[in-house]
Amino acid sequence: MSKILVTGGAGYIGSHTCLALLEANYEVVVVDDLSNSSYEAITRVEKLSKKKLSFHKESILNKEALDQIFQKEKNVDAVIHFAAKKAVGESCEKPLLYYQNNISGTLQLLESMKASNVTDIVFSSSATVYGEPDEVPVKEDADVRPTNPYGQTKAMMEQILKDTGAAYGWGIALLRYFNPVGAHISGDIGEDPEYPNNLLPFVSQVAAGIRKKVTIFGEDYPTPDGTGVRDYIHVIDLAHAHVKALIKLKQDKSTHTYNIGTGRGYSVKEMVETFRKISQKEIPAVCGSRREGDVPILLADATLANKELGWQAEFGLEEMISTAWKWQSQNPKGYKA
Ligand code: UFG
Repeated sequence: MSKILVTGGAGYIGSHTCLALLEANYEVVVVDDLSNSSYEAITRVEKLSKKKLSFHKESILNKEALDQIFQKEKNVDAVIHFAAKKAVGESCEKPLLYYQNNISGTLQLLESMKASNVTDIVFSSSATVYGEPDEVPVKEDADVRPTNPYGQTKAMMEQILKDTGAAYGWGIALLRYFNPVGAHISGDIGEDPEYPNNLLPFVSQVAAGIRKKVTIFGEDYPTPDGTGVRDYIHVIDLAHAHVKALIKLKQDKSTHTYNIGTGRGYSVKEMVETFRKISQKEIPAVCGSRREGDVPILLADATLANKELGWQAEFGLEEMISTAWKWQSQNPKGYKA
């Protein structure tokens, strides 16, 4: 049985990926400092899978502790690396925090992997590395030119991984997620943000009556209805892409970069309208000004992941929104009791 060490495994995408790994019969070791996540997510993953995983409450910045975890767990076959700070706005206010945490954390992790002879890693990257691309749908060979410190850290971590892979002959998979949304179909695990910066978690809280209204960030974009268009991808599909990437690295030890999206875009207005229909809630929305750094439209060309990983998104908009709503309604306070 293959053993996978998952950093940030208690987080939103991390927890869904741990569940997918357990369901695919992998052994799972989680390293998470719970700074932006909850142990309750791990408990629920274990309940859903009817399996146990090995959990270490530890920061990847603690190199000594990380080395010990690799030693203690023995025979770790590969790593999936999620642990990072991820709020765009905060990264502009506190760039040093982001560079320190994301870059140093990744360096420590790679050093520990090297010391333990672990040579495969799947990395949680983001479409944010493209900034505003010249063409959409965007392909993996488009220019990398992020527009904020958070995006810069993702681009830098990609580069560090590529160089490491090239020097030591490691297997590296860089997964560039588009807009992850939705929750597990049980409604038992989902996204639990301290403050919802992204559209769907915000709309969920408006539908639940926690917030009064959603502000649409700009209605004057050059898009069909004037609002921003994004490529939303169900978190379960995303989780499966990680499992496929692990399999790929076993067969082909080199660096691979994949867009993970559907290629289909939805506008902010379409998202809000579909949420109203599914939740049967009013969801007041007002138009506000554009949010700095937003692009009009971002869509994935995911042909490469389809072809090389045999991966395809299976869930559509209905499932994305109905599972997000199920999670929100069943857990009005997220993982807090
Ligand atoms: N939006 C609103 N109102 C809100 C929130 C968002 O109108 O309250 C709009 C945005 O302007 C955008 C769309 O909804 O057009 C999606 O916004 P999100 O914040 O949900 O997602 P982004 O496309 O901005 O974010 C994505 C990833 C992030 C990543 C970011 C980098 O989800 O992880 O790109 O730009 F950091």
